[in-house]
Amino acid sequence: MAISSSSSSVLKIMLLLFSAVVGSGQLSPTYYARSCPKALSTIRAAVQSAVSSEKRMGASLLRLHFHDCFVQGCDGSVLLDDTSTFTGEKTAGPNQNSIRGFDVIDNIKKQVEAVCKQTVSCADILAVAARDSVVALGGPTWTVKLGRRDSTTASLSQANSDIPSPTSDLNVLISAFSKKGLSTSDMVTLSGGHTIGQARCTVFRTRIYNETNIDSAYAASLKSNCPSTGGDNNLSPLDVQTPVTFDNNYYNNLVIKKGLLHSDQQLYNGGSTNTQVNTYTRNPAKFSNDFAAAMVKMGDISPLTGTQGQIRLNCRKTN
Ligand code: HEM
Repeated sequence: MAISSSSSSVLKIMLLLFSAVVGSGQLSPTYYARSCPKALSTIRAAVQSAVSSEKRMGASLLRLHFHDCFVQGCDGSVLLDDTSTFTGEKTAGPNQNSIRGFDVIDNIKKQVEAVCKQTVSCADILAVAARDSVVALGGPTWTVKLGRRDSTTASLSQANSDIPSPTSDLNVLISAFSKKGLSTSDMVTLSGGHTIGQARCTVFRTRIYNETNIDSAYAASLKSNCPSTGGDNNLSPLDVQTPVTFDNNYYNNLVIKKGLLHSDQQLYNGGSTNTQVNTYTRNPAKFSNDFAAAMVKMGDISPLTGTQGQIRLNCRKTN
């Protein structure tokens, strides 16, 4: 008896050491089960409340996680404010005047800190908030892997180079995702995030005035709120049919040339990704399943784990 319990303790210690060494890069769905059992329900309630006050916020929170993961991995770097001695990512081209939701993240972080002090990272909050946002707007759910830690650094230059541009052609979009370990198919699936949310006139003006692979009535209706000069910040929905519902209409739009961004329509412009778009128009359940799996994959991009980074007390600044 004594032998078996001591040998089982030795085994446990060995397992712990093994997982500390070998598994340090592993995220786990149950990471906060013991250290902060209320973390997930706290985040969910706050996201539900924010999205019910403003539906677009669900889109904005989804995008924050994407912009976090594509720069240095999913490490909360996107949340860091600029200071006189620190340059964050918020003024990067794809982010400035565009990414939003920071106050909602601050509020979630405050509530999570109140239940478990310095336990839940800002990077994990972004990953869970993205999932809860999609669910709040009627989309699929998935199990978020947890245990990311927060960066003490940010990269303005990587935010400018690695977040894909709406003027990109298909081959450039494929490369941008491939650089992050995501396949062309993941790229087409994750672009379905554009079934919710809004874009500014400045990012689709060239498309609606100069491109030919756009439905002419759709282009005309967009022009009324996006003049050829001025109105740069005027908003239009990325999904003209159901802008606050997470569904497969993004793909239904593409096949009738109603993609809002140049980059959107690139997925259905006679190239290699046409077939996947067609599949998603016919099979919304497949899109839901694939989206859930691709979000898990995106959430796995180069996380900080173990003793790397830190758990920030305030998502806007390092400790
Ligand atoms: C494929 C490459 C992508 C490009 C070129 C791209 C580009 C853009 C642009 C230009 C906007 C409008 C920003 C503005 O005008 O302020 C936007 C909005 C948005 N993007 Fe993407 N995006 C891409 C992929 C993704 C992915 C992978 C997701 C999430 C899975 C995503 C989620 C969103 C959402 C939800 C919005 C609306 C945000 C809001 O209303 O606040 N995008 N994107």
